[in-house]
Amino acid sequence: MSSRVFWLRCEKKEFERRAALTPTTSKKLIDAGFDIFVERDEQRIFDDSEYEAVGCKLVDNNSWPSASTDVPIIGLKELPESTDPLPHTHIQFAHCYKRQAGWSKVLSRFKRGSGTLYDIEFLNDASGRRVAAFGFHAGFAGAAAGALALAAQRKGETLGLLTPYENETAMINDVKKVLGGSGKGVKALVIGALGRCGRGAVDLFRKIGLDEDDILKWDLAETAKGGPFDEILDVDIFVNCIYLSSQIPSFITHETINAAGKERLLSVVVDVSCDTTNPFNPIPIYNINTTFDKPTVPVGVATGNPSLSVISIDHLPTLLPREASEQFSGDLLPSLLEFPSRRSSRVWADAEKLFQEKLAEAVIAEGL
Ligand SMILES: NC(=O)c1ccc[n+]([C@@H]2O[C@H](COP(=O)([O-])OP(=O)(O)OC[C@H]3O[C@@H](n4cnc5c(N)ncnc54)[C@H](O)[C@@H]3O)[C@@H](O)[C@H]2O)c1
Repeated sequence: MSSRVFWLRCEKKEFERRAALTPTTSKKLIDAGFDIFVERDEQRIFDDSEYEAVGCKLVDNNSWPSASTDVPIIGLKELPESTDPLPHTHIQFAHCYKRQAGWSKVLSRFKRGSGTLYDIEFLNDASGRRVAAFGFHAGFAGAAAGALALAAQRKGETLGLLTPYENETAMINDVKKVLGGSGKGVKALVIGALGRCGRGAVDLFRKIGLDEDDILKWDLAETAKGGPFDEILDVDIFVNCIYLSSQIPSFITHETINAAGKERLLSVVVDVSCDTTNPFNPIPIYNINTTFDKPTVPVGVATGNPSLSVISIDHLPTLLPREASEQFSGDLLPSLLEFPSRRSSRVWADAEKLFQEKLAEAVIAEGL
């Protein structure tokens, strides 16, 4: 068994305020005998002092390259681009296993440094489901953004810059305020309502005061009849949260929107699933991902018809960094507790096998 230690590195990706380890999970690891080093990081939603208070050892920002190579480094997002060899073991999202731009260059750094990557996206339980994912808060934040966009559109305005909220209560209060005190009376439809993102979207709508009957919750059973679905046109906000795995009929099209004419209630579509460039995107009414500074993209409608916009932000949990981190880190904790026995722990052994396979592909691609 290797030593019980983790080093939480700072995040370098702009706007990323989430953390892979929170003070709560750090405390649980410390209670289980781990040493936890935490890099000071002003970008992180949690104050350095919150980690110090539970017994973490604070170290300088971005100092992990100087850590002993037997100390596993944990972070959330990819490291800044570089050609430096990576001699450590890294636990993080690396976005380099699906041949994304620059994938082999990232992996070649591990090859040259003899380091190891455990990509969190590929840590799966025995049934093949990810042990930790951010879905719930993506749906929650997406539904909130949808409600904010609806409120803006009702005033004839366009939703402006979205900034991360300090916590869930602040988000709920803000959404309720712009809706005039409560979301009561707003109608919403969530497709994929039984999944992680879908449950988050439904939870937000409940918390801002929609009547239960005004939150339509659809999953596979309700869409089995095949789209497009006129029901989507009869709600204020439609939130798509499905996991798209094959070609399916579109849920909504320009034709169904035009056919509804002035009778259409639908004002905002939130595509949490964000299969924007997927040829099977079941919402073929937009073609860009929107951003925090420009959260909506308008859908062309006939003159005189009510306006319609789409939100297609692909990093929604960033809007709720504290709760999203707590949930994610809590889900990761059982696996982290097993990490010192990673050679015999299925979740880690599988992840290492995958890393070795991808590394071998990168070695060929880079001609190493
Ligand atoms: N925008 C973001 O910031 C963000 C963040 C996290 C996840 N996501 C994306 O959201 C999607 C959903 O993720 P998840 O973790 O909630 O997945 P999940 O597997 O937990 O849930 C997906 C749900 O969709 C349902 N579903 C699948 N096909 C359907 C169909 N044709 N009709 C109706 N329901 C259908 C499933 O039954 C399931 O209940 C994924 O594509 C994921 O990549 C986006």
